[in-house]
Amino acid sequence: MKICIPYAVIFLCIISNNFVTSNVDHNFAECCKKAVSHSCAKHCKYYNSVIRYSWPFLKGDCDWDKERDLLRHCFMNQKDQTECCSALKVNEHPHCLEICNGTLKSFSHPIGQYLICRRYIKQATKCAKSSW
Ligand SMILES: *[C@@H]1O[C@H](CO)[C@@H](O)[C@H](O)[C@H]1NC(C)=O
Repeated sequence: MKICIPYAVIFLCIISNNFVTSNVDHNFAECCKKAVSHSCAKHCKYYNSVIRYSWPFLKGDCDWDKERDLLRHCFMNQKDQTECCSALKVNEHPHCLEICNGTLKSFSHPIGQYLICRRYIKQATKCAKSSW
């Protein structure tokens, strides 16, 4: 019986961890689906790569000019996560912090300058997810 306890704890941790993750995805999806077009809404999920986030725009499901900021707002839980991102060194490239500001209306630089920010996608996602 004693040997079961650690396994039970691990099992419960896995379950609760999955619950948190799916809850966070659900919250993002709810926010995002209200904001974007029908074709874009199916991409309302957290991903771990910038390529994956770019794909709906390249494919034409999402409209870059109209929907990128709406997605960013929901991605960042409509909150300013600048502090969290700074603590994770996103401020090495200060303009990349704009990605973490869910209250910012729009990006201030041309899109090409954000390519370097792809290295921070994990940090930004971590801040976003922990804020829901
Ligand atoms: C985030 O964006 C809002 C709205 O533009 C702005 O007022 C705020 O200062 C920004 N946060 C930081 C840390 O720059």
